[in-house]
Amino acid sequence: MLSRPRRNRQSAAIRGLVQETHLSANHLVYPLFLVDGNNIKQEVSSLPGNYRWSLDLVLGEVEACLKLGIQSFILFPSIEDQYKDKTATHSYSDQNFYLSCIKEIKSKFPEACLISDVAMDPYSSDGHDGYVNDQGEIENDTTLPILGKMAVAQAQAGIDIVGPSDMMDGRVSFIRQSLDDAGFTNTGIMSYTAKYASAFYGPFRDALDSAPKGGDKKTYQMDYHNSVEALREAELDTLEGADFLMVKPALNYLDIIQSLKSASDLPIAAYHVSGECAMLIAACQKGWLDYETAMPETLTAIHRAGADVVISYFAKDYAKRLKA
Ligand code: PBG
Repeated sequence: MLSRPRRNRQSAAIRGLVQETHLSANHLVYPLFLVDGNNIKQEVSSLPGNYRWSLDLVLGEVEACLKLGIQSFILFPSIEDQYKDKTATHSYSDQNFYLSCIKEIKSKFPEACLISDVAMDPYSSDGHDGYVNDQGEIENDTTLPILGKMAVAQAQAGIDIVGPSDMMDGRVSFIRQSLDDAGFTNTGIMSYTAKYASAFYGPFRDALDSAPKGGDKKTYQMDYHNSVEALREAELDTLEGADFLMVKPALNYLDIIQSLKSASDLPIAAYHVSGECAMLIAACQKGWLDYETAMPETLTAIHRAGADVVISYFAKDYAKRLKA
């Protein structure tokens, strides 16, 4: 036998020499759920170890993450029912605590990169990402100006990158134009390019109380039977001015991550979503899997598949391991 692959695996030092993938904290984005009020740190029951934070307490959490080397955060608001309506007006209102949180976190930690969520669902009385008309249809073009206003309000608050997660057609160019018209030419767009209608968003919807009141999201989010269609979405988002292309979820869609990575010269992000994390947490709690080994294997797989940016609820734990 001339060729023995095991020779390059025989010690930690040799394995280190040939290691192909390195996932550092630079590539990680940590999601944080925000809630209005004071002194609130409420665990999300279907996503243990993750919380709805009030601004006063989330500042400490951001600081702790920065010390661990995590520099990027994606922020989601939990909105009280009384502020929800059909057109998500609260999303760009002066009274929206989410915008004050962005402002405050940014002024305390200017070095942090803050990413927003642009979609109607947390603010919509229908729980959909777009405007629902009387026939129950999600109206694409009626939704765009709402998303544009939301993105500009977030940019005014100091967001670095807006994250349209709504899957309306044409929203990247609409948002780009809205931002540019308002003078925010440097605010980036991380587009949820290939976002699938997935069963794995459950814990996130629990955290924000944002589940659709009727129907599902299949007329706008992608069908999980499809992969070529993701390339079409990627091409459109690129032409429309996106700065990052995102695939979501991550683990069941590693093939999509790989195909976008090879088709595009834009950075690719992958969102390791709430349900994917919850599965692993639950198996570890039962003692069926070991978190300390299964968690880094999972995040590394997403990076190896081609995701430059890995968004995960495990980001903080991963960064802690790197420091240890
Ligand atoms: C809302 C949005 C969702 C997620 C991110 N932004 C849920 C949905 O589309 O219903 C899911 C993230 C996760 O599950 O961690 N537009």
